Amino acid sequence: MATPLILDGKRCGDALKAEIAQGARKVGDRRGRPPHLAAVLVGDDGASRTYVEAKVKACAKVGFRSSLIELPASITEDDLLDKVRALNADADLDGFIVQLPLPTHIDADRVINTIDPRKDVDGFHPVNVGNMVLGLPGFLPATPSGICELLKYYQVGTEGRHCVVVGRSNIVGTPMSILMSRNTYPGNCTVTLAHSRTKDLGSITRQADILVVAIGKPGFITGDMVKEGAVVVDVGIHRIPDTGRKSGYRLVGDVDHASVTARCSAITPVPGGVGPMTITSLLLNTLLACSS
Ligand code: GUN
Repeated sequence: MATPLILDGKRCGDALKAEIAQGARKVGDRRGRPPHLAAVLVGDDGASRTYVEAKVKACAKVGFRSSLIELPASITEDDLLDKVRALNADADLDGFIVQLPLPTHIDADRVINTIDPRKDVDGFHPVNVGNMVLGLPGFLPATPSGICELLKYYQVGTEGRHCVVVGRSNIVGTPMSILMSRNTYPGNCTVTLAHSRTKDLGSITRQADILVVAIGKPGFITGDMVKEGAVVVDVGIHRIPDTGRKSGYRLVGDVDHASVTARCSAITPVPGGVGPMTITSLLLNTLLACSS
């Protein structure tokens, strides 16, 4: 196989961010204040902090206001729920996210269910999930919707193709499988949702024209599990210790790029693939929140 097309999430995200910045200016002219996104970070998990800071930084890039709300890992569930209710009621705020995972003593479902669906720019609230399943307007979850934007940007054909999604999380795999089966573009795929209990996973992934991997295991999908010419979307991002790097680590995905690159026709890099698209979709949702 020739060198695959790199599905560059930074390039696609930057193109979309230019449009979002234009939308932000219009909102500012109309309302007298720009879109405002808040991110709640509970505790001090290093990876979560990196993601949240990237989201806040992206807001500045498109002219949004942002607030980073840092809460201690020891916060009680009731106090966090009170904070969520206060954000729901804050008229100066268009949307907010609570970065996951939360400390184990907090029930994430209760927190998500307490977010006002009109401010749920992560698209995690059952109302938004239900709207997505029914094809009704609402906030789409950022990672799957960012992947759809990336497929659109690179004009990847999806109709009638077999999309295999590996991983059934609420925030990536399950919604991705729904979006790819919708009667729209991108979509109209025949979808298989594979997961940790799937038997003979390789026999399933080898059927994929489009393979989306969100299983949370570094280098899990290897070249022998991929059909020649497949389009591969790698959602994973893991820090692997690497003494050869100044940072002391390198980032790898759920896909073993060395072996898969030799077989696929297109692939998302890690970093710089799905990550920037997730953030861009969050910005798009925040802009959408300003029009309601
Ligand atoms: N943790 C991993 N991905 C996400 C995301 O998209 N949103 C939130 N809130 N937490 C996450």
